[in-house]
Amino acid sequence: MSTTTVVPLSEYMREQVKLADEALHRVVPADSHSPETIHKAMRYSLFAGGKRVRPMLCMEACRAVGRRVEGIETAACTLELVHTYSLIHDDLPAIDNDDLRRGRPTNHVVFGEAMAVLAGDALLTLSFEVLAKLPGVPAETRAALVLELASSAGTVEGMIAGQVRDIEGEKAEPTPERLHAIHRAKTGALLRASVRMGAIYAGATPDELDALSRYGEHVGLAFQIVDDILDMEESSEALGKTAGKDAAQHKITFPAVYGLDASRRMAEAELTAAHETLARFGDRAYWLHQLADLIVHRKT
Ligand code: IPE
Ligand code: IPE
Ligand code: MG
Ligand code: MG
Ligand code: MG
Repeated sequence: MSTTTVVPLSEYMREQVKLADEALHRVVPADSHSPETIHKAMRYSLFAGGKRVRPMLCMEACRAVGRRVEGIETAACTLELVHTYSLIHDDLPAIDNDDLRRGRPTNHVVFGEAMAVLAGDALLTLSFEVLAKLPGVPAETRAALVLELASSAGTVEGMIAGQVRDIEGEKAEPTPERLHAIHRAKTGALLRASVRMGAIYAGATPDELDALSRYGEHVGLAFQIVDDILDMEESSEALGKTAGKDAAQHKITFPAVYGLDASRRMAEAELTAAHETLARFGDRAYWLHQLADLIVHRKT
C-alpha cells in the first residue's frame, strides 16, 4: 500500500478543496477591486460551496503522470472558473430559470440578469488569461492547455453544443441518440478536459493521455447520469439546487429515457470502465479511483 492510501477520504477532500479555493482566491480580483459589483458577483458564485470535482480530477491526473506537478492548482482552478460561469448562465431565466444554486439564491436573483451574464463572461475570459500566464510552464504547454479548455467549452462537441442540444431537446422526442449527444457534450466534455489538462500539464506521453482521456469520458458520462438521478431522488435542500426540474422542463435525461434502475446500472458500468482505464498507473491512480467512486456514489 502506498503512503497516500493512509489518508482518509474526508481529509483528502478537505485538503484538495482548500488547494483549489486558495488558487481561486489568488486569481480572482478582490471584492473591493473596481468595479466592485462584478467582482462581488463572480466571487459570490465561486465561493458558495461547490464540490470542486473538476479541479480535483485535474490535480489528480497530473499527480498520476507525475513528471511536473508544481503549480498545478492554478491551472486546475481555471476549470472551476469555466464550470461556475456555466452554472450562472445555466440558471438564467432564458435557460433553466433556477433561483437556487449551491444552497443560495442564484447569481441573477442577487445581482440582476445583466450582472449575472457579465459575471459568467468574466469568469470564462479570466480562465484563459490565467492559463496564458501560468508561471514556470513552457509556452507550448500553456497553449495546449488553453486549446483543451477552449475546445471543451465550445460549440463543436463541447459544453455549448451540449447546452444547445439540451435546450432544443425540451421540445424533441427523448431518444437514446439525443440523450448521449447532450450528455457527452454538456457535462462530459469539461470533465474529460479536466483530466486531460492535468495530464498535459504533467507532460503525459500519448499513451498516458489516451488512457486518462478514456477515464475522463467514463467519469464524465457517469457524472451526468448521477446528476439526472439525483434531480429525481433528492430534495432541493439536500442538493442546494431546485430538485425535480428536469421532468418539469421536459429535459432529455437518463431516467426519462431508460428509467431509474437502468440508469443506476449504467452509471455503475461507466464506473467499472473508468477503473479499468487506470491499470497502467498502479498506486499513482489511487485517488483517481476514489474520485470515480465518489462521483458515482455521491448524494449531491
Ligand atoms: C452541476 O455540477 C452541473 C452539472 C454539470 C451536472 P456539480 O454537481 O459539479 O456542481 P457543484 O460545482 O458541486 O455545485
Ligand atoms: C448543466 O446541466 C450543465 C452545464 C453545462 C451547466 P444541468 O442543467 O443538468 O445542471 P444543474 O442540474 O442545473 O446543476
Ligand atoms: Mg441545464
Ligand atoms: Mg440546470
Ligand atoms: Mg441537472
